[in-house]
Amino acid sequence: MIQFYPRALRRKKQETKNVYSSSDSYTTLFKDKPFWIWDKAQHVTAFDATNGNCCFNHIVGLPESEKTGIKNPMFDYEQIIFENIFKFQTLPNGKEDPKNRHVWVKKATGLGITEFILRLMLWLCTRNDDFKNCQMCVVVGPKEEIAIGLVKRMKRILEQVNIYVENRATTLILNDVEIQAFPSNHLASYRGLTAPRFIFLDEGDFFKKNDIQDVRDTTERYITKSKPYIVIVSTPNKPDLLFQMIEKEPENVCIYNRLFFNYEWGIDKMFTREEIEIQKASPSFDREYDLKYAGKIGNVFSELQIKEAIRLGELYKDLPLNQYTHHFGACDPGWAKTTPVYIGELLKPQQVFRINYYEGFEKSTPEVVATHIFNVSRRYINLKWFIDGSDRGFVNTLKRIFDEPDWDGGNTDDIDLNNVKIIPVNFTKEHKQLLEHAFLLLASGKVAIPAKYDRLLTALRTAQATEWNLDKEETVNDDDLDDFRLMLRKVYFGKKA
Ligand SMILES: Nc1ncnc2c1ncn2[C@@H]1O[C@H](COP(=O)(O)OP(=O)(O)OP(=O)(O)O)[C@@H](O)[C@H]1O
Ligand SMILES: [Mg+2]
Repeated sequence: MIQFYPRALRRKKQETKNVYSSSDSYTTLFKDKPFWIWDKAQHVTAFDATNGNCCFNHIVGLPESEKTGIKNPMFDYEQIIFENIFKFQTLPNGKEDPKNRHVWVKKATGLGITEFILRLMLWLCTRNDDFKNCQMCVVVGPKEEIAIGLVKRMKRILEQVNIYVENRATTLILNDVEIQAFPSNHLASYRGLTAPRFIFLDEGDFFKKNDIQDVRDTTERYITKSKPYIVIVSTPNKPDLLFQMIEKEPENVCIYNRLFFNYEWGIDKMFTREEIEIQKASPSFDREYDLKYAGKIGNVFSELQIKEAIRLGELYKDLPLNQYTHHFGACDPGWAKTTPVYIGELLKPQQVFRINYYEGFEKSTPEVVATHIFNVSRRYINLKWFIDGSDRGFVNTLKRIFDEPDWDGGNTDDIDLNNVKIIPVNFTKEHKQLLEHAFLLLASGKVAIPAKYDRLLTALRTAQATEWNLDKEETVNDDDLDDFRLMLRKVYFGKKA
């Protein structure tokens, strides 16, 4: 761990204990103090001259590493965040840059950013009276306990200098500034604030899909009302949530200064090189430490089973197409997002089902996908397609191209596979059974997935289910997983194949 300051300057525990009861007394303690003095030499001088009362962080005590117990200075990446929050720029036309006061931080876990922003908020409340009678807000993930936890954390920082604030569990009133924490799924009172001046959305990529637009609209509506600082922080979660949405915005449209801090920023500061090497073995490393929207590790397939499927996939990926065996294709259309199309091949001598074709269609139409499916089918002699029956229109678009009679939307159980190529599947009825069957095949080493099918592999890694009921919110690329289980619907080894 780096030693930012000479040993002599590291402060012993505050010797005199003061109990501050009114805002007047404790604000004198922090009055006009900087948050931190970023120039090291100046900081050392100021520390000496004030007997350690040089800045907010030295007064309340430097943040301590839970692992090592060592007190740390503020780090370079914290300086970058600080400067971006407070920088003020004007555009060539003389107008205020809409990015002013707005910062979005995508970060590795454990860099200390939550702690840093909470301290920053406390400092803004206490260094002067600029925020008096205003509000500050913290919006956290969808659990009241997290909101309570963050307010408790702020209260604990103040308690280090014997400032005890008694408010409701999710509220802290400091120097007439009301700091409130809200879980992202209970925003009613967040919507009705009069003048929020600082808004901190913590772990914003873990807000539920249905809450994202509401949180964002409500937050950004305050921009014209009270010009708040808006700081949005998170470790990435999965694609298409709040973080990727903001990350994808063109620079000239986005109202946030976007900052990226992967694990490398924390080496020899918040983590050691050895700790990172150990973490690299974890399947969640890319997401938690390296800023990838890879989703949380699910509970259906284990990493070991997935690795075995990849091993087999790589082993058999160059085998030529076998026209004397069964091929199964699948398509679960999602017209508003990506519609994946997969094909796999039953390799009887190797006793595996090998995935050997994928094509994804971004916001496409039934006609385009159906035509593609028809064209690709020409390469195979024995290929059957399993299609999610909930989109009857699409099933029939396909059937017409394949010159098959229309499906009436009725029972799918007694469709004779020998007579047709397009087979609708009643997902509502079969989905659990299909997931269990796919699991049993993968778990017994009967599926080969070459490493290039990364969308499917991510789907498998993040698949989350309760009693075989797939949680589509948690599972990344859930349509790819649906294709996967559709393809495997009639795959049996030994018994029924
Ligand atoms: N320079 C520092 N800045 C902030 N926190 C620090 C620093 N040094 C040590 N810490 C300590 O490290 C811990 C960091 O926790 P924190 O929850 O803020 O990290 P985080 O980046 O928000 O991580 P998470 O991904 O878990 O949300 C805290 O206990 C804090 O006291
Ligand atoms: Mg955090």
